[in-house]
Amino acid sequence: MSPYAHITGWGMAVPAKVLTNSDLEKMVDTDDEWIQTRTGIRQRHIVNDEESTATLAKDAALNALRVANLNPADVELIIVATSSPEHVFPATACLVQDRIGASRAGAFDLSAACSGFIYALDMATQAIRSGSLQNAVVIGAETLSRFVNWEDRNTCVLFGDGAGAFVLQAGDEPGGVLSAVLRSDGSGGDLLSLPAGGSFMPASAETILNKQHTIHMNGREVFRFATRVLVQATKEAVASAQLKISDVQLVIPHQANLRIIEAAMRGLEIPATQYFVNIERYGNTSTASIPIATCEAIQQGRLQAGDNMVFVGFGAGLTWGAALVRWTGPLLPYRHIYPTSYRLWVMIRSHLLRLVRRIEGWIWGRNI
Ligand code: ACO
Repeated sequence: MSPYAHITGWGMAVPAKVLTNSDLEKMVDTDDEWIQTRTGIRQRHIVNDEESTATLAKDAALNALRVANLNPADVELIIVATSSPEHVFPATACLVQDRIGASRAGAFDLSAACSGFIYALDMATQAIRSGSLQNAVVIGAETLSRFVNWEDRNTCVLFGDGAGAFVLQAGDEPGGVLSAVLRSDGSGGDLLSLPAGGSFMPASAETILNKQHTIHMNGREVFRFATRVLVQATKEAVASAQLKISDVQLVIPHQANLRIIEAAMRGLEIPATQYFVNIERYGNTSTASIPIATCEAIQQGRLQAGDNMVFVGFGAGLTWGAALVRWTGPLLPYRHIYPTSYRLWVMIRSHLLRLVRRIEGWIWGRNI
C-alpha cells in the first residue's frame, strides 16, 4: 500500500519592517481608501538590506522543522517555490539546504508564480506517495518588493515579502494531501510578466531605464481569470478526492485580492466562516501566501485533525491549481529538536566544505 503524504510541520517568516497604505500615499498617487476597497490590503512587510528570499525561506523552514520534530539532517528533499529567487542559479533551495544543514537533501527551485506552492506541494506528495522519499520540506518564499516598480501605483500597492514552509512526511494512516489539480495557459503569459533579465531580453542599460526588470500586469484581465479558475480548480480537487464541497471545513485561497477571494467563494457557495483571509496584513506574498495563511489559521484554532481543507491559487504563466488535504498535524511523538541549535555546526560545516574544495583546488592545480 502506498504511504500517505501528511503535513506534519508548518512555519512562517516575515520581515519586521511594515509598509502601510499611508506610507504608500507618500510614494505614489494613491490613497488608503482606494487600496482597501479595491484589494483589502492595509499593510505589507518589506525586507531590509540584510534580508533576502533565502533568509526568509531558511527561517520558515526551521520553524516548520521544529513543529514536525524533524532533524534537518534527516530531510530528504527541499523545494523552494519562488518568483523572486536569490539568483537565476544557484537555486535558492540549495542556499537553504546549506544554511539549515540538510546534508542528505536534494534541493531545487520551482517556478509557477503564485501557484508555485501548490505545484511544489503536489511534487513532494507524489515523491512520498511513490515510496521514493520519506519526507520533504516545501517552501514558498518571496521578496517581490525587489521586483516592483515603486513608481507604478497599479502594482506597487499589491505585493509584500514573506515565506512559509510545510514539512511533509510519509505515514500509513489515510490523510494528508489526497488530491491535486495543476493547470496552465501560456497564451496569457503577457498578462503578468517580468519582461527583462532572462535569456530573451538580457539585462542592459536600456532595459533598466525602461523598468523592464519590474512586474508588468494587466490587473483587470488577471482579475477575471482568477475568479473563474479558483472556482473551477476547487471543484476539481474536491471531486477527485471523491468528496463534495459540503465536506470541506476550510478553504485557504491565495491571498491576491479580497474581492477575488470573495467572488470565488460566492461562486462556490462557501460562507465567510469557511475560508481564510489575512491579506489585510501581508498583501500578496505570492508563493508564500498559502503557507503563511495556514500558519495563522492554525494559530487561530481554525483547523482540527480530520478536517478537509482546500488550498487554491493562481498566478502568472498563467498557472492555477488546488489541493485537497485532510489535516493531521505532527506525526512523530514530541521530542526535543532544536533545528536552530545546529546553526553553529551548520556554519562550520559549510566553511569546512568550502575549505576542502579550495585545498583540493591547490592540490590539483585548479584556480577556484
Ligand atoms: N491608487 C489609486 N488609483 C489607482 C491605483 C492606486 N493604487 N491603481 C490603479 N488606480 C486607478 C487606475 O488608474 C484606474 O483609473 P482610470 O479609470 O482613470 O484609468 C482606476 O484606478 C481603476 O483601475 P482598475 O484597473 O479598473 O481597478 P480595479 O478595480 O480592476 O483594481 C486591481 C485594480 C486591484 C489591480 C485589480 O484589477 C486586481 O487585483 N487584479 C488582480 C491582480 C492580481 O491578483 N495580481 C497578482 C496575480 S498573482 C501572481 O502571479 C503574482
